[in-house]
Parts: sequence; C-alpha cells; structure tokens
Amino acid sequence: MKILITGANGLLGQYAVKQFAGAGHEVMATGRGGCRLPDNAKPYQYTDLDITDKKGVLAYVTAMRPEVIVHAAAMAQPDTCELNREACYDSNTNATLYFTEAAEAVSAKMLYISTDFIFSGDDGPYRETDKPAPVNYYGETKLAAEQIVRQSKINWAIVRTVLVYGNILSGTRSNIVTWVKENLEKENPIKVVSDQVRTPTYVEDLARGIHLIVEKNAMGIYHLSGKEVLTPYEMAVQVADYFGLNKTLMEKVDASVFTQPAQRPLKTGFIIDKAEKELGYSPVSFMQGIRKMFPGKEAGMHK
Ligand SMILES: NC(=O)c1ccc[n+]([C@@H]2O[C@H](COP(=O)([O-])OP(=O)(O)OC[C@H]3O[C@@H](n4cnc5c(N)ncnc54)[C@H](OP(=O)(O)O)[C@@H]3O)[C@@H](O)[C@H]2O)c1
Repeated sequence: MKILITGANGLLGQYAVKQFAGAGHEVMATGRGGCRLPDNAKPYQYTDLDITDKKGVLAYVTAMRPEVIVHAAAMAQPDTCELNREACYDSNTNATLYFTEAAEAVSAKMLYISTDFIFSGDDGPYRETDKPAPVNYYGETKLAAEQIVRQSKINWAIVRTVLVYGNILSGTRSNIVTWVKENLEKENPIKVVSDQVRTPTYVEDLARGIHLIVEKNAMGIYHLSGKEVLTPYEMAVQVADYFGLNKTLMEKVDASVFTQPAQRPLKTGFIIDKAEKELGYSPVSFMQGIRKMFPGKEAGMHK
C-alpha cells in the first residue's frame, strides 16, 4: 500500500515510517526541513513538506496519490501552543483540514493522531465515547481537528494516544524515560509530579496499533496507549529502579508547583478495551517498555 506519513521526523513519525516500511509498504515520509530519519528505517522516500502550506499539501498529495495518510505532524508542546495560538491553530487544525481535503481529492483514508489532552482530566481514564472538554489551547486545536475529520466524507480513523515514550532517534525531543534517566545520571535533582495520572505509551506499540488499523481497515475512534495507570512520579521510580539510579534526587510534587503557560489535565489515561478486542492491540507494561528501549542495561545485570 502507498502510505503517506506526516511528522516523519518526530518521535511517532520515525517509528511509524519504520513500522510501515518494515512491513513492505511504500512509504512517503514528509517532515519539516531535512530528513532526520535514521538509515535503518529505509526504504522510504522523504519530502520536505510544510503542513500549513495549503497549496503545497494538495499538490503533493494529488501527485503522490497515497492510499492512506497517517497525519502525525502537529505543534505538540502545550506551552508553545498556548503562547503561539495562531501558529498552533494553523499547524493543528487548519493543516488537518488541508490533509482531509487532499485525502478526499484522491480517495485516501486518513488516520488522524490525536491526544488525551482533548479531555478535562477530571475523571480519567477515558473511553472513546467519553465527552471531550480540553483545558488548554493545544487540546482545543486537536479537538477541532478531530471534528473536521469526523465531519468529512473520507474514510477516517482517529487514534488518540497518551504520553508517548521511546528511544530518541535522531533529533526528536526528550520524553519521560530519557528525561529522568539523563538527569539522574548527571545527579541533577528533579521535581516529579505525583498528582497527575496517565497511561504511558511505548512508541513501538503505538506504531504497531496504527499499522493494525490500516491492515484491518478499521474506522472510527481508537484509544491506543499503555494499560497501566501511573503518575509521572511512579514512572520516574521505575526508570530509576531499572537503571539503579539515585531516587533521593527525585522530589515528589503536585502539578500546581509548576507555573506553566498551559494547564495540564490532571487525570487522563485511556481504557483500551476497544483496541484490544477489535484490533488485537496488546501494549507492553511501562517496565517492559523501558527494557525494550535499553535492553541489558538493567541494574545488577551482567553487562
Ligand atoms: N508525544 C506525546 O506524548 C503525544 C501524546 C498524545 C498525542 N500526541 C500526538 O502524536 C502526534 C505525534 O507526536 P510526537 O510525539 O511524535 O511529536 P513530535 O516529536 O513533536 O513530532 C511532531 C512532528 O511534527 C512536525 N511538524 C510540526 N509542524 C510542522 C509543519 N508546519 N510542517 C511539517 N511538519 C511539522 C515537527 O517537525 P519538527 O521536528 O521540525 O519540529 C515534528 O517532527 C502529534 O499529533 C501529537 O499531537 C503525542
């Protein structure tokens, strides 16, 4: 199949390219600027495509005629979104409209990657049928994009995910595992939130889940995350335990101690029964995810 992946330089994008290319699909990877994908994700072809360039998006999609568009590119940092609202709306909502229109022009299916941040965080973990109520601008723009996809005439699936972690390939930003590991290794004290909950998602599971949706031609909304409901502090403890790092450097704090531009939903995380039943999605535990990222690095193991 011909699969177009946006945001291919990002954390999910890099693994999605690897997943689909590895399964023998013809992958068209697009990102901003030069290609930062590692060589081992080949074969794929990479194109620099600004998702906010309406004409460029339509021209590229109509020229390449993908059968599936996995739209993963986004302005994905809530604080940046809060402070740059116009650019955020353009990247997250308008760009999704451009890809939806382009998908319609070539009769492609669209998989839109969304987030737990569309929910309020008052009463998570959430099912696909729960009512969204975002508490920050990032969540608002992602929800508005979901509505565009849902109201379109194309075949669509919306994949919502939560706190994605995985190995940083080239140039992707840090995540909970790499952030805790790097700081504790440098003996930097860190403050870690203990009153939020999430179901952290191993990036390879997410890429596999997206692949399952394509293979099964599933449609509708799917929650794809890990299964374990954990606080960031509990996650940090598992990271420290795995590597045998000094936990006394970690201070347990409430989210309210951080004065961040964007409010965070307190209790999110997903119930993933639907994906398990309909797709055969089966994510690893958080500890298994850490082990997959850093095999053989477990404290006390013979190195
Ligand atoms: N990471 C999470 O915890 C999480 C949780 C829930 C949902 N999600 C969703 O999952 C998707 C993938 O996120 P991620 O974690 O892989 O984020 P990421 O690493 O920041 O990747 C997003 C990619 O989008 C690209 N992008 C942004 N604006 C663009 C533009 N105008 N033109 C072309 N490319 C552009 C970025 O390019 P640059 O690299 O050049 O900046 C980046 O490579 C996003 O839709 C996000 O909302 C992520």
